[in-house]
Amino acid sequence: MKQKHKMNNKNLSINKEVFGKISNNVVYLFTLSNNNGMIVRISNYGGIIQSLIVPDKNGQTDDIVLGFDSLDEYLAGHPYFGAIVGRCCNRISNARFTLDGIEYKLSANNGNDHLHGGVEGFDKKIFEAEEFQKQHTVGIVLKYLSPDGEENYPGNLLLKVTYSLNNKNELKIEYEAKTDKATPLNLSNHSYFNLTGAGNGNIYNHILTIDANKYTLLNENLIPSGENPDVSETAFDFRKPKIIGSGINKLPYQGFDTNFVLNNKGNLSKVINIEETNTGRKLEISTDQPCVQFYTSNFLDGSNKGKLGKVYNKHDAFCLETQQFPDAPNNENFPSTILRPGQVFRSTTIYKLIWEK
Ligand code: GLA
Repeated sequence: MKQKHKMNNKNLSINKEVFGKISNNVVYLFTLSNNNGMIVRISNYGGIIQSLIVPDKNGQTDDIVLGFDSLDEYLAGHPYFGAIVGRCCNRISNARFTLDGIEYKLSANNGNDHLHGGVEGFDKKIFEAEEFQKQHTVGIVLKYLSPDGEENYPGNLLLKVTYSLNNKNELKIEYEAKTDKATPLNLSNHSYFNLTGAGNGNIYNHILTIDANKYTLLNENLIPSGENPDVSETAFDFRKPKIIGSGINKLPYQGFDTNFVLNNKGNLSKVINIEETNTGRKLEISTDQPCVQFYTSNFLDGSNKGKLGKVYNKHDAFCLETQQFPDAPNNENFPSTILRPGQVFRSTTIYKLIWEK
């Protein structure tokens, strides 16, 4: 697909086009545009945010998320660019958990551990999609029925993800899920951002603030120990604005790949701010989720050639994956992530883009 930045059409609108085919299933790409020149493209394959085009302080637009121009490139494999991740995002240690006395074995797709829902997680599913247009928002409702036993998780899980865009430059993701058997559930979106534009270099000069007093201790395989120490006097203290690049190369795991425990007490509130001064772009994230995984694309190695042929290298992007506590099914110290029949899981994350005029 060619990049078309539709700057002339400045109306809240939604368009649907064919993105490609997976066997006999047609996959779509939806284009959501607002009155301020913000354009979001989302596919019903993996619920992938394929592009996020925003102006900068001089009115010049850039696509600020990593991804590909064609569906085939996504199908060829990628590290979850823009996708919905589940049934359990992040890691499940030793790819197993016990629930109500039964042991469930999951696929080990990251060493001995289970990562982002397994071999074929939600990032690789075709969702049913329906677009909507209201007075102040445009969006799509994505639905996927994850069958009992998929990736060995128990229960038929009905997942609904609503993406919407408004004229306050907010991209909202609302998750809703129901199950007919108790199952662990942890959902996130795995967008990789670079506020200077995807493929335009590293993110070292981005200034980050996270309203989190605690972070999660990890072992060498990035599995939580169960302890959440104070961020004070650590590299994880982002309570005041701090440049990402300072000290990033001294960290273990080749950069940030850490869970932060947010101070939002479960209420939808603004907990993250990240800005880049050359472009004047700022991203504010609000969530009701208790945690965020901050990952600085440490595993990108230039082998993914993205949109417009741009190459993505280590530290060229950041992910801020709002979620529940990682590996909670194996950690008694963490709040439960089990969804039971009769309960409805609901959660909201909002990405608000700001650019100074
Ligand atoms: C997450 C993990 C990382 C890595 C990426 C995908 O953010 O925390 O360790 O697995 O996903 O490459």
